[in-house]
Parts: sequence; C-alpha cells; structure tokens
Amino acid sequence: MYDIPFHKTDISKLSFLITGGCGFIGSNIVEYLLKYNAGKVVVLDNVSTGFKKNIEPFLSNSNFSFIEGDITDFQTCKKACEGIDYVTHQAALGSVPRSVKDPIATHAVNATGFLNMLVAAKDAMVKRVVYASSSSVYGDHPVLPKKEDETGNPLSPYAVTKKTNELYANVFASTYQMEIIGLRYFNVFGPNQSPEGAYAAVIPLFMQAVINKTAPFIDGDGEQTRDFTFVENAVQANIKSFFAERKDAVNQIYNVAVGEKISVNSLYSMIAELGGSSVKPVHRETRAGDIRNSLADISKIHDLVGYEPGIKVNAGLKIAFDWYRKNFG
Ligand SMILES: NC(=O)c1ccc[n+]([C@@H]2O[C@H](COP(=O)([O-])OP(=O)(O)OC[C@H]3O[C@@H](n4cnc5c(N)ncnc54)[C@H](O)[C@@H]3O)[C@@H](O)[C@H]2O)c1
Repeated sequence: MYDIPFHKTDISKLSFLITGGCGFIGSNIVEYLLKYNAGKVVVLDNVSTGFKKNIEPFLSNSNFSFIEGDITDFQTCKKACEGIDYVTHQAALGSVPRSVKDPIATHAVNATGFLNMLVAAKDAMVKRVVYASSSSVYGDHPVLPKKEDETGNPLSPYAVTKKTNELYANVFASTYQMEIIGLRYFNVFGPNQSPEGAYAAVIPLFMQAVINKTAPFIDGDGEQTRDFTFVENAVQANIKSFFAERKDAVNQIYNVAVGEKISVNSLYSMIAELGGSSVKPVHRETRAGDIRNSLADISKIHDLVGYEPGIKVNAGLKIAFDWYRKNFG
C-alpha cells in the first residue's frame, strides 16, 4: 500500500501528531508518513479502542514516538502538541450504537477531547489541524448524494459530537486565525480495522464470518446503502489536506468517500465471493440511530484539495480480505 506519494512537500523536516494513532485510520496515516520519511511522527492514544500491535512496526523507527495518554486531559494534549507542525486528530469513540448506550463517555472523548486538542494546537501554534468528522453529520437530510453544506438533524449522540467538532473548528478558525480542515469520512475499511468487540464495523465482521464460514448478521433488510471507502483514500485525504495550498481550501469541511453506493446485501455477496463462502447471512432488527442511505458528492475535495479516490471498493475489498485472512484466518 501507499506506493504513490500523495504529497510533493519535503516532509523530512516536519513534525506530525496523530491522535488515535493506535487505531485503524490513525495507524494507516502513521504508516504513510514514516514510509515517506517524515521528520517526526508522534502518536497520542490511550489504547482504549485501538491496539499497541498497530504501532509495533514503527517502534524501532527513531522518527517515531508514542505518548500513551488521554485526550480528555488537557495537559496531555498540550504536551503532545509541543514542537508539532501538523496535527491530524483521529482519536474518538467511534460507533453510533456505543454512543446510544453511553452518550456521556462519547461526549467526553469526542467533544471535550476535541476541544482540548484545538486549544492545545492553538497554544502550540501548529501550522494546520486536520480532524475526523463523519458522514453521520448528515443525519436525517434525505437528499443523495450528500453535499457538504446540506446537513440535517443528527440521529445519534455520536453524530452530535461530530457536528459539535465542526462548529468548534469553524469558530476556532475565525477567532484564533487557525488553519483547520474537517474530513467527513464515509464508512472507511481496510487493514487494521478490528473485527473484535461489540462495536466492530460491518466489513471486518463480514470478512471474519466469510473466513470462518459462519453466518454474519445483517441489520434490517440489508438494502440500506453506504459509500464504502478504502482506508488508503482516507489517508490521501489527510495528507492532501495538510498541504493543500489554495487559500479557499483551508477552513473547510470535506466529504471523504468514493462516490459509489453499495447495499449491505451486495457488500456481503462481494465478500462471500472473495472467500468462496456460500453461507447465508441472518437478518436481525434495524439499529437505532442508523441512517438508511449514504452516498457522498466528492467534487468539493476533488476541486479544492486534489483528492481522487485511487482505490475503488472491489480493489479495496481484495486488499482487506488478504489482510484479514493473514491476521485472523
Ligand atoms: N472508520 C470509519 O468508518 C469512520 C467513519 C467516520 C468517522 N470516523 C472517525 O475517524 C476517526 C478514526 O476512526 P477509526 O475507525 O480509526 O477508530 P479507532 O477506534 O480504530 O481509532 C480511534 C483511536 O482513538 C483512541 N482513543 C479513543 N479514546 C481516546 C482518548 N480518550 N484519548 C486518546 N486516544 C483515544 C483509541 O484507542 C483508538 O486507537 C474517529 O474520529 C472516528 O469517529 C471513522
């Protein structure tokens, strides 16, 4: 992966902080930055939903360092931002159902933790902050494809926290003259996304079921659609956002997706075919807080940041399936 660089800037003298770097998307960003010899790469993570094994390959790299700490503690955020040029903030408690079950924990990490990171980044005068928002911000807005400035009411506590991030980012950009870019990820998948735990995402669960030849659950009728996005595309969006030069590209929010909608039923068929499984899925109740259909318009990030989703869903599923077979087969 990451055979083609997404940046032209010399990053060998630049320092990067990746919060949530032990997690799925964060560890992929770290892999990219170290592959292209970034000067300094720091991860801040409390290893709550992420894993030390995701950063193990980097521990021997002298450009890499790990701070085990919690973003709900402001002093920890402040220390992590010292001497940093670029921050990408990925740390959060993901999952809509988790937020429905425990909105207080989700708020503490996703909203208060985000605010801590913004203040710490401001105090350290970092050059730019990129952060993970989410397609959940579109909430009950019915129109497809989703365009950045047409959102509805959030449908879950998780979506409220991501909407809150966007509001704070906007205010910090104008009040403190910071450079901040928000990325609304649409169902990202790929290597390092865990199939374990109560809040695992659909693709890791389907991959594991196909490998083990067991029946996965599908929520509702399975005709709900998503814009599944291979993680290399999400990494590209982060790297290109760090270095986007156009003035009007900064202090914006962007969809990060492929621009293809696939139903959960078709997704399972694609993965079952990859693994040669003929096991039928089991349908169960629809989940609270879920949106029915999701598809991104990606023209804004294409036009302003130069993002092009290089890996389409099928190709991404193949790479991911090989990874799951190797690590969980
Ligand atoms: N994966 C997706 O499809 C998707 C979609 C939309 C948005 N997002 C957002 O992207 C970001 C990354 O998601 P991911 O899928 O890599 O999730 P992940 O759970 O794999 O990674 C999140 C990381 O944050 C860390 N973390 C959690 N709470 C923390 C705290 N209090 N202090 C420090 N670290 C903490 C976890 O240990 C973990 O390593 C999150 O903000 C998530 O909400 C992800």
